[in-house]
Amino acid sequence: MSFFQPEQVSARTFIEYVEYHPALESTNSLAVELRDELYRVAPALVLTDEQSAGRGRGIHTWWSATGAITCSVVLDAHRHGPAVESRPLVALAAGLAARSLVAELLPNHTVQTKWPNDVLVGDQKICGILSEQHSTDSGSILIIGIGLNVNNSLATAPDEVRQRATSVFELTGQSVDLTEVLIRLLNHLSHALDQVCRNPVETAQESARCDRLTGHEVKIQTPTELLAGKCLGIANDGALLLKIGEAVREIRAGHVLEFS
Ligand code: BTN
Repeated sequence: MSFFQPEQVSARTFIEYVEYHPALESTNSLAVELRDELYRVAPALVLTDEQSAGRGRGIHTWWSATGAITCSVVLDAHRHGPAVESRPLVALAAGLAARSLVAELLPNHTVQTKWPNDVLVGDQKICGILSEQHSTDSGSILIIGIGLNVNNSLATAPDEVRQRATSVFELTGQSVDLTEVLIRLLNHLSHALDQVCRNPVETAQESARCDRLTGHEVKIQTPTELLAGKCLGIANDGALLLKIGEAVREIRAGHVLEFS
């Protein structure tokens, strides 16, 4: 039995085509594989009930179970994305969209983003986003992969995931209609994408306001060094601003290891 009604998704959101499979290794990987076809029907969505080899940012993997939302939104980078210099903000915009949805579902909790685009409830991760850009035979696509823990329990998750992650079900004891939640997520995403195209600075500023790290001590592994400092917020191009001694560094890629 599918948890989703794909025809409802295309009827009630900006998505024009849904590539639905009951089970997949990774929705992002299938989106990359089908990139030439999906480019032509974008905005498209790759959706599954059960993902067995989810990819995370960098070297990380993404654990998920049935009852979670695992999907990838595929956009024509030129038609649906912002100007090239604002493309890094698409990932932040997607995080803000997921944050807005989670805050509606969990009105009694503190819901924040964590640069670049995790969503945290308190300090527990509830949503991860993997955004990628790829060339196709006739243009280029943006893939926004979203993993959101909704009706799934974390009981069967590996220890290190269980310790730092949560789900809507874990926090409320209640299950919600997954198609309705997905539709709301995509409608928030459509709004966030409109904003990043029209006013990218507003996306960066909203991201700084909503970020768990702003004002806190952070340890971060960049591709070349391990840095520690105070997070001052997010620059207009989406970089994390880290004050180290008297200098302010702009971090464009990195993995946050610790924060206070
Ligand atoms: C992260 O937090 O490291 C990013 C996790 C992104 C997971 C989602 S689940 C749907 C999509 N398909 C994947 O293989 N990964 C993303």
